[in-house]
Amino acid sequence: MSAPEGVIVTMDGPAGTGKSTVALKLAQRLGLEMLDTGAMYRAAAVVAIDEGVAADDGEALAARIAEEGLVFDWSQRPPRLLLGGRDLTERIRDQDVNTVVSIVARQAPLREALVRAQREIGHRHPRLVTEGRDQGSVVFPDAAVRFYLDAHPEVRARRRVEQMRSQGRPADYEAVLRAIQQRDLLDETRTDGPLVCPAEAQRIDTSLLTLPQVVDELERRVRARVPAGLLASPCAAVRA
Ligand code: DC
Repeated sequence: MSAPEGVIVTMDGPAGTGKSTVALKLAQRLGLEMLDTGAMYRAAAVVAIDEGVAADDGEALAARIAEEGLVFDWSQRPPRLLLGGRDLTERIRDQDVNTVVSIVARQAPLREALVRAQREIGHRHPRLVTEGRDQGSVVFPDAAVRFYLDAHPEVRARRRVEQMRSQGRPADYEAVLRAIQQRDLLDETRTDGPLVCPAEAQRIDTSLLTLPQVVDELERRVRARVPAGLLASPCAAVRA
């Protein structure tokens, strides 16, 4: 829960809506910190792959994470993610992690542990833009502002293909679209913390917007709802 002087902004939505990039830029503009909760589920997927823990054994994954200690290094922007002192920031983006993480993220005992950890982070870092699938619906239902970012699956697939090709990786549009639809279905149909747009959340369809346009729109909406004294003043120098 946010402290009285805190400002928590949640951003949920499916993969490929640009949430991480938007959350980071929005946090910079508003003078807030940024929490990428997908990174925590990805770290659990790395535990499954690298340590041989079954991806559907949520108890064992939660126990390993508790033993080793999953922490963010808040001295960096965006914060780096460490598990037992090992920096996983790059490892969690590998292709094998993408494949396993949806299974891992369905496990209720793991979700309980990570939701608890996210609330503790919110307590210690109460000036936060936090992004994921359940931040406004489950983790911070009292957040000052809650957003739900969406885009047509075809648009998200096209963005992902462009991103992969720009990294020199081969990408097949049809395969990427199928993977996105599959991941949406898994995220939306799990019983614990499913991907939903909370009734009070502000829904933004990013299909026809560029990332800077999305950031501008969200900044405008947060400033309209949060007292100016709690946010960094609008400043051309930090705009990107
Ligand atoms: O946003 P992402 O692609 O890094 O998320 C990785 C996976 O974790 C994805 O399958 C959705 C899941 N996730 C979740 O279930 N709850 C969150 N709060 C964040 C991510």
